Amino acid sequence: MGSAALYLWIKALHIISVIAWMAGLFYLPRLFVYHADAPPGSPMAETFKVMERRLLKIIMHPAMGATYLFGIWLAATPGVVDWHTGWIYAKLVLVAAMTVVHFLLAHWRKEFAADRNRRAARFYRMVNEVPTLLLILIVVLVVVKPF
Ligand code: HEM
Repeated sequence: MGSAALYLWIKALHIISVIAWMAGLFYLPRLFVYHADAPPGSPMAETFKVMERRLLKIIMHPAMGATYLFGIWLAATPGVVDWHTGWIYAKLVLVAAMTVVHFLLAHWRKEFAADRNRRAARFYRMVNEVPTLLLILIVVLVVVKPF
């Protein structure tokens, strides 16, 4: 396979991984919104714990790892990124922010798992908007490359 074809395959795998990661980043805070109103110890709360653990460990951690793997692979491929343009650095800052959100969610999942959540559903509703905003900015940066 030529390196141009390989580049397209890596990019496809990068986008697939991004979609899986984003699905989790949208869904986990949604689960927290409902979990926050479920009485601790109730069957519903216990079901949310199982859903949250599996979503994070089976989907979100691997998808984030794959996003980084294929993203760094693309960035390391000669000729793919013009390092004199600004968008790639802005993108990397926003990816770092997305990663912070990921690990905050992982931290809050542990609190829920131990029946130690102290935050109201409204807090998680607001958290839910952050990955959406970051995703919009990242896609505009990588596609439009405005600077
Ligand atoms: C370590 C993290 C990441 C690195 C190093 C990275 C790097 C890259 C590189 C070098 C490209 C190729 C750009 C081009 O062909 O012009 C790319 C494409 C892309 N990246 Fe990332 N990326 C990362 C994470 C993300 C995340 C978190 C998202 C979305 C939330 C994302 C969305 C995209 C999209 C949509 C494309 C396709 C753009 C196109 O069609 O040209 N990336 N990435």
